[in-house]
Amino acid sequence: MYTINDYAARINGWIKNLKYPEKPQGLYEPIAYMLGGGGKRLRPTLLCASAEAFGLECDKVKPQALGIEMFHNFTLLHDDVMDNADVRHGVPTVHRKWDVSTAILSGDTMLTLANRLVGDCPKEFSDKVLDIFNKTAIEIYEGQQYDMNFEKRDDVTLDEYVEMIRLKTAVLLGCACRIGALLAGGTEADCSNMYRFGEQMGLAFQLRDDYLDTFGNEKTFGKEIGGDILNDKKTWLRIKTASLAADKLAALTGTTAGKQKIEAVSNLYRKLCVGEACMNEVERYTASAVECLDNVSMPDDFKQFFKNIAVSAVKRES
Ligand code: IPE
Ligand code: IPE
Ligand code: MG
Ligand code: MG
Ligand code: MG
Repeated sequence: MYTINDYAARINGWIKNLKYPEKPQGLYEPIAYMLGGGGKRLRPTLLCASAEAFGLECDKVKPQALGIEMFHNFTLLHDDVMDNADVRHGVPTVHRKWDVSTAILSGDTMLTLANRLVGDCPKEFSDKVLDIFNKTAIEIYEGQQYDMNFEKRDDVTLDEYVEMIRLKTAVLLGCACRIGALLAGGTEADCSNMYRFGEQMGLAFQLRDDYLDTFGNEKTFGKEIGGDILNDKKTWLRIKTASLAADKLAALTGTTAGKQKIEAVSNLYRKLCVGEACMNEVERYTASAVECLDNVSMPDDFKQFFKNIAVSAVKRES
C-alpha cells in the first residue's frame, strides 16, 4: 500500500510524461509551467487511493487522476487572474509571466484536456463519470462567483461562507473520491460516503487555506501572504472578526491599503484570536470527515490512510 508521498511521486511522474503539441508554444508552455510547477497532488491522490481502497490498481485510473489535477490547475490559473495574485508555487502566476489573454486561453485548453482525460475510461462508466465531473465543475464556478460577490458585501454570514467554500473547493475533493470508488466498483452507499468524506475534508482544507493566507509562511505556502485581506475576501477569519468588532474592522479596511492594511487587519485578527477559532473549525470538519469512514466498507489500512490524509490537511503549511 502506498503512502501519501508515494502517490504524489507517482502522480508527478505521470505529469512529467504528459506530451503536448509543440505549436503554438504560447498556448502549451504555460500549461506545462502551471501543471509541472508543484502542488500537493491532493485530488489525484484521493482519486487513486479511493480506487485502490475498493480493489482497483491506481494505474487503471491514471487518466482520471491526471484529468482532475489538470482541471484543478485550470481553476487555479483563472483564480489567480480573478484574485489578482502574483505568485503561486513560489513563482510568478501565468498571467504575470505571460498575460491575461494567455491565462484565459491556456486555462480553457486545460479544461478541455481535463474533460477528455476524465472521460477516458471503460464505456460502461464514462457517462456517469463525466456527469459527476461536469456537475462538480459547474458547482465550482458557482462557488467562485459567490466568492467574488462576497468581496463587495459586508453582511456575509458564516453559513453563506461555508456553502461558498463547499462549492468552490470541497466538492472537487468529494468528486475525486467518488470517481475513484465508482471506477473500482464500489457500491452507491460507499461512493456517497467517500464523497462526503472528501467534501468534509475539503471544508477543513479551505479553512486552513484561509488561515495560511494570513498566518502562513510565504516560502512554504508558495503564495503571497495577505491576498485575502487586500481583496476583502469574506474568509472565516474576516466574518468572525466582523461579528466581534465590526466598527474596528470597518475603520481599518476603510482607511488602510497595501501592506499597511494587511498588517492592521491581521493584528486585529490576532487580538481577537480568530486564527485559533478558525483552526478549531478545521479540526471539527476533519473529525466529521473521519467519521464518514466508519460506514465505508474498505480495509482498515485504507481507512487509516484516509484518516492520515485528512489530518495532514489540518497541519499543512503548504
Ligand atoms: C489551492 O489548492 C486552492 C484551494 C482550494 C485552497 P491546493 O492547496 O491543493 O493547491 P496545490 O495544487 O497544492 O498547489
Ligand atoms: C480557490 O480559492 C478555489 C479555486 C481555485 C476553485 P483561493 O482563491 O483561496 O485559492 P488560492 O489561495 O488562490 O490557492
Ligand atoms: Mg479565489
Ligand atoms: Mg486565489
Ligand atoms: Mg486562498
